[in-house]
Amino acid sequence: MKAAAIILAAGLGTRMRSALPKVLHPLGGRPMINHLLASCAQAFGRLVVVVGPDMPALEAAVAPHDVVVQRERLGTGHAALQASPLLGGHAGDVAVLYGDNPLISPATLQALLAARREAGLVLLAMRPADPGRYGRVVLDGQGDVERIVEWADATPEERAIGLCNAGVVCAPAADLFRWLSALKNDNAKGEYYLTDVVAQARAEGKRAMAVEAPEAELRGINSRGELAVAEAELQQRLRAAAMAGGVTMLAPESVYLSHDTQLGADVVLEPNIFFGPGVSVEDGVTIRAFSHLEGCVVKRGAVIGPYARLRPGTVIEPEGHVGNFVELKATTLGAGAKANHLSYLGDASIGAGANIGAGTITCNYDGVAKHRTVIGEGAFIGSDTALVAPVQVGARALVAAGSVITQDVPDDALAIARGRQAIKPGRGFKGKGKR
Ligand code: UD1
Ligand code: CA
Repeated sequence: MKAAAIILAAGLGTRMRSALPKVLHPLGGRPMINHLLASCAQAFGRLVVVVGPDMPALEAAVAPHDVVVQRERLGTGHAALQASPLLGGHAGDVAVLYGDNPLISPATLQALLAARREAGLVLLAMRPADPGRYGRVVLDGQGDVERIVEWADATPEERAIGLCNAGVVCAPAADLFRWLSALKNDNAKGEYYLTDVVAQARAEGKRAMAVEAPEAELRGINSRGELAVAEAELQQRLRAAAMAGGVTMLAPESVYLSHDTQLGADVVLEPNIFFGPGVSVEDGVTIRAFSHLEGCVVKRGAVIGPYARLRPGTVIEPEGHVGNFVELKATTLGAGAKANHLSYLGDASIGAGANIGAGTITCNYDGVAKHRTVIGEGAFIGSDTALVAPVQVGARALVAAGSVITQDVPDDALAIARGRQAIKPGRGFKGKGKR
């Protein structure tokens, strides 16, 4: 029987000082709980998330996994017990994990499950650079786990122990729930500690064992400072994976990636680039410095930036060019088309090989609704053109610089829509500084 997992996420996360439940704070552009669920889904057959009352956003984020509500926050042991109606009769192992411990790899979870064959209870432990306020793992003479002592309850000698509880335990379902229902709250915090199940397992003569993994995977997140440390750790992993896949980064530490950023081979990233969620970049693309991309597809050989902004729904077809201070939203830029300077292109479809002059603006919003602009293949839009949508410019059409286009332009036509220039001889500037 495949093991099941209980993920605790009912805590308020008071140390975050946030209106958002702690486990919804993002890492790499995705709520931390969803990182943990993704790893757990690879190791466990069923996931149950324990949430607090009035956390609708959290319940939505963890769907379609099962949710149980912990009505009163009486501690981690009490929280885990709330899953007993769903998992009490589970025929295999059950692991308990903390939602604020999101970077655990599937491989470490597999190691935990494998170790269960050798002991009645296994837990994940680490040796952090700064053990801080983690619970300490007390070992016996054989190197087995004797008990876990919470920092608040620990003696100075116990606080000196470097082996820390990462907050993941695993045992057969029947044992785990029996131990959980027998927990007491006679401790410094007056809470039912999950960690006390270790002492119960030992009291029943069972062996308890710790599986060690790196701090980078097991760190807990209780504050914004710890969130930033975890983010740095995740970014390092994402960049390393991108470079291993054939991406050149001129200054890796200045590139921010999302958990799902897809970068092809021979992509070159200049310094200072931000990737929001949902970006896919094909082979041979160059993204120049200070560009911001989210929810977009950049196809083979395109060049983006410097200082470009690609917003959701944008597709850059092969060899397209987007230059400095150009913003695209829900727009397709055709193969080989260019928009190189100072433009806003929103809700537009731009044909292959079209040239969008500097300062071109699609006026897509009339204050109520959004409207589309369609520009045909090989069209040439002169600089400082306003395209008042809905409007279409035909293939190979030429729009004169400075035009305000309010009517469709047929294929191959020239459109000029601007005031005529007047010349008044002798009426030049006669002010100060003139000789
Ligand atoms: C916990 C462990 C500690 C370990 C550390 C690892 C206990 C008693 N302590 O401490 O040994 O070193 O994690 O990061 O387990 N939660 C609920 N309901 C509650 C209380 C907590 O769902 O009533 C959830 C929280 O949302 C959180 C998780 O359980 O996701 C852990 O709770 P937290 O208060 O952060 O425990 P720590 O003090 O970090
Ligand atoms: Ca914690």
